[in-house]
Amino acid sequence: MNMAAHTVAVVAAVLAFVAGPVVAADVEAGKKKAQEVCAACHNLDGVSTIPENPKLAGQYPDYLAKALRDYKSGARKNPIMAGMAQGLSQKDIDDVSAYFASQSAVLATRM
Ligand code: HEC
Repeated sequence: MNMAAHTVAVVAAVLAFVAGPVVAADVEAGKKKAQEVCAACHNLDGVSTIPENPKLAGQYPDYLAKALRDYKSGARKNPIMAGMAQGLSQKDIDDVSAYFASQSAVLATRM
């Protein structure tokens, strides 16, 4: 196993460990919300193909939820995401964060 593959395996194991027990949210409800609102920019699987829109797949659910709460409160400023976050309840935030966190991350490499 080369170093990069080893790193991926370790990261995957850590993510599986971290994501597993934390999720008390409703992933299916999160998927529905993602389909209605977020997929246009972040793709339904959270692997955005547009560089301006960050990839969400496989990110820690806590990180995603914090980002969304911060957009909603104005602590993190972005006009696009401020508008998106306004429409989300606390439960929507937990659900949609759990959903995108449950999607497989794709590692990007530059040639
Ligand atoms: C119109 C396009 C668009 C839509 C729709 C959209 N987003 Fe975003 N999203 C963005 C852009 C652009 C950014 C980068 C903003 C920044 O620089 O802070 C972003 C950033 C984020 C981030 C922060 C990612 C990070 O790595 O810090 C999260 C989380 C997020 N969006 C979640 C969502 C969710 C959940 C929805 C659906 C409820 C959604 N977005 C809908 C365009 C969009």
